[in-house]
Parts: sequence; C-alpha cells; structure tokens
Amino acid sequence: MTSTPESFAPRDWDSQPPLVAPDYKSTRLRGATKPLIPIKQSLSELTGPVFGHDALHPLDNDLTKNGRKDGEPPGEPLGERIVISGRVVDEAGRPQPGMLVEVWQANAAGRYVHKVDQHDAPLDPNFFGGGRCVTDAEGVYRFMTVKPGAYPWGNHANAWRPNHIHFSLFGPSIATRLVTQMYFPGDPLLDLDPIFLATPEAARGRLISQFDLALTEADFALGYRFDIVLRGAQETPMESGR
Ligand SMILES: [Fe+2]
Repeated sequence: MTSTPESFAPRDWDSQPPLVAPDYKSTRLRGATKPLIPIKQSLSELTGPVFGHDALHPLDNDLTKNGRKDGEPPGEPLGERIVISGRVVDEAGRPQPGMLVEVWQANAAGRYVHKVDQHDAPLDPNFFGGGRCVTDAEGVYRFMTVKPGAYPWGNHANAWRPNHIHFSLFGPSIATRLVTQMYFPGDPLLDLDPIFLATPEAARGRLISQFDLALTEADFALGYRFDIVLRGAQETPMESGR
C-alpha cells in the first residue's frame, strides 16, 4: 500500500511530553524553544524502505540468548526472566504488521553495556541488552528478556530511573520512527521520575505495562503486556523531538 501525507494524523500533544520539561534537566538545553517547522514529506520519505526483514536472526527477540558468551554449558544472564508482548495498532485499532520493533535495556543489576555507563553495578557477560523483531499479521511483537534493574542518573541528587525498557518502532518508511519507554506496574520510582512525570498525567498510564498471566511461560517466565497505539485518543506517549 502506498502511504500518502494524509495517512499520518496529527499528534495529540495532550498525550505527549513537552519538548522542554524543566525537571528533566537535559531538556532545558536540548529541547526546542521555538515553534517547530513542519517539513513537507515527499513520496520518497513516506515509501522508502528502511530495513530488510531478511536481516533478522531467529534469536534477535530473545535477550536471554542473544548475548550469551560463557562456555559450556552456555551461560545464561542473571535476573528475573520476563516475556514482553503487545500489539501495535493505529488510531482505529487496526493492527500494524511488518513493523520493526527494537528494544534496549539495562541488565538485572541496572547496568548498560555502554562505555559512558559508569554505574557501580556489575556487567553481565551473558547479557547484551538489545533485541528486535517484526510485528506479525496481527501487529503483535514478543520479546523474552530479564527484568531491567533501576539505575542512578545525574539529573538531581539521588535520582534513580524506574525499571524501564526503551522501544523504537519503525513503520514502512524513515518518517515513521517512534521512540518511547515501557515501565512496570507498581514501581515506587515512577512518582519520582522526571522523565515519566514529563508526560501529561492522563496519558502516563499508557507507558506502564500490565502483568498478564496469559503471557507467562509456566515455571519459566512472567509475562507483561505493552500495547502501543500510534495515533488518536489513546496514543502512546513518545519521545519524538528529544
Ligand atoms: Fe534507560
């Protein structure tokens, strides 16, 4: 199907965090302070392919396996195994198949595999912290991973990020990338987190996954559901522009 500029409904800014959220310190410097200038998109931005489905590896959506390094028997990342799954839909509830969903996260101790992450917590030799998959015909994605730990960050004194998983979604073109974060129910750090709190209160709950017994794997992993709505009255808050 060929996309047209009319196919992208305007974003509902009542559901989205502002570009500058003063309590989220770095947005004071990097957030746009002048009105955004819409750029008219041509057919090439709207239809150009951005990824090949053939490039995906069968283990790409299993973060408990795609970073294993230890020898025999193969090592396994430490932490609480969880399944994360959900459906990606548009404003009319129509499933969005063929979307590239990428995730990245800290390990169970709250540490990223990244040289600028200097949190005094152990790296896990068997956990890389990144995964990807493509939504199926019903718009469903699924990941196996371990629950990420909380970690401190320099926003303010004794600031800790709640447990979260970063999400990126690519639609059929480069103009349709969306980035957001998924949180966990009952996390006491949510009420203290300037990034979470930057999203308007009425829309914050859409960033929190739900425990779902149907998604658990018996005797193996707990399950959390995180559905993503791209536009409309129930749209998922995103991080575009930041
Ligand atoms: Fe993070």
